[in-house]
Amino acid sequence: YTRAEVAQHRTPSDRVWVTHGTDVFDVTEFVELHPGGPDKILLAAGGALEPFWALYAVHSQPHVLELLREYKVGELSPEEAAPAPADTADPFAGDPPRHPALRVNSLKPFNAEPPPELLTQSFLTPNELFFTRNHLPVPSVEPGSYRLRVEVPGGRSLSLSLAELRQRFPKHEVTATLQCAGNRRSEMSRVRPVKGLSWDIGAISTARWGGARLRDVLLAAGLGDKSGEWHVCFEGLDEDASGTRYGASIPLERAMNPQAEVILAYEMNGQELPRDHGFPLRVVVPGVVGARSVKWLRSVEVSPAESPSHWQQNDYKGFCPSVDWDSVDFRAAPAIQELPVQSAITEPRPGAAVPAGEITVKGYAWSGGGREVIRVDVSLDGGRTWREAELCPRPERGRGWAWALWELRAPVAAGARLELVCKAVDRSYNAQPDGVGGIWNLRGVLSNAWHRVPVTVT
Ligand code: MTE
Repeated sequence: YTRAEVAQHRTPSDRVWVTHGTDVFDVTEFVELHPGGPDKILLAAGGALEPFWALYAVHSQPHVLELLREYKVGELSPEEAAPAPADTADPFAGDPPRHPALRVNSLKPFNAEPPPELLTQSFLTPNELFFTRNHLPVPSVEPGSYRLRVEVPGGRSLSLSLAELRQRFPKHEVTATLQCAGNRRSEMSRVRPVKGLSWDIGAISTARWGGARLRDVLLAAGLGDKSGEWHVCFEGLDEDASGTRYGASIPLERAMNPQAEVILAYEMNGQELPRDHGFPLRVVVPGVVGARSVKWLRSVEVSPAESPSHWQQNDYKGFCPSVDWDSVDFRAAPAIQELPVQSAITEPRPGAAVPAGEITVKGYAWSGGGREVIRVDVSLDGGRTWREAELCPRPERGRGWAWALWELRAPVAAGARLELVCKAVDRSYNAQPDGVGGIWNLRGVLSNAWHRVPVTVT
């Protein structure tokens, strides 16, 4: 078979085919028997099993392969095993391979989110499933010759290799959630069209990051006491055809505050930073919109002004719902830094039919600025009555940079039509708005209304 033929078999009605190595299997009869549930095995339908098995170690046991063998229907033709030659004219031809489970919002540049049912499977998002937000092609960086340029006022500068960054500065680890300002934009565009990628609820993920504290690097570069307004501007190595690079900035105060834990990360969940997430070095600004955590870091510069980059000046800002593309003045609004409180339901999915008896509702909740989530309220009746969800124990007590995963179990009767709703409360008692209308904005950012999921009980 060709891979294209295998890819036609993605649903039980078309039969469910998968590959392992060069073998092809029809696992239709096994779908309902899958211990992880039918929805999880169907994520691999029409393609290779290996990327999924790599995530869930339970599969690497001999009896799993034996069981699979029963379903073998053929093999891939020999030419299918060889990778396709790269297209050198395409600026995105050098982008890395990606996990097939990711829901792709745009292929070039690559923007993708994990499916909701995998998003809250684990507190730390596996690197392969971590949402990816790229504005430009992924740069190819030779780690041996890589150098980071650091400039501080007074004409002082520093050029650091990766080895120097690792050796000269103590490694600091921080568990932090990154969320894109456009997370849940698709709900805003249902009210009125907005400009931007149509993210569902998955432009958010959590990792344990390791690297040098930005503060230590700036001090080593000779940064002295500063009063007044100062910013730290970051520039990436990714660039468009005209040579314009991605850039963003944060206030110097945050960069220098040891409690803010801003790092230059070379590790993600104990592994080298993957290419899509900024290899070999990225900024991680906990509690702040993902846009400021610049990937493929080229330079760091302390400046009296914010980054001149388009993405700092003319994007990632919020406006009144009445502002349109004719009236918008990007200079009138501050750049988004700390994000507001957020939560969403990851299971069940909208429109799902759930069995009568007990329903399990799962989701995530997070707030910016390290304001940890203290409570998540869930309603089964569109917001008329509420119950408190259980916050899953966090593997570590951090400073509130990471999300809380939560769960609610409740009895449900056959035939009911439910509107599941969730809303979170953070440590400052900030709560989410009940509807999208009042927070709608032309760019579709900061979408954090109560999350609503209609389901029926069978
Ligand atoms: N850094 C560079 N150099 N180029 C980019 O396109 N995207 C930003 C930020 N850093 C971006 C970048 C945005 S908008 C987000 S939300 C985060 O990276 C996403 O990080 P991730 O792709 O590792 O999830």
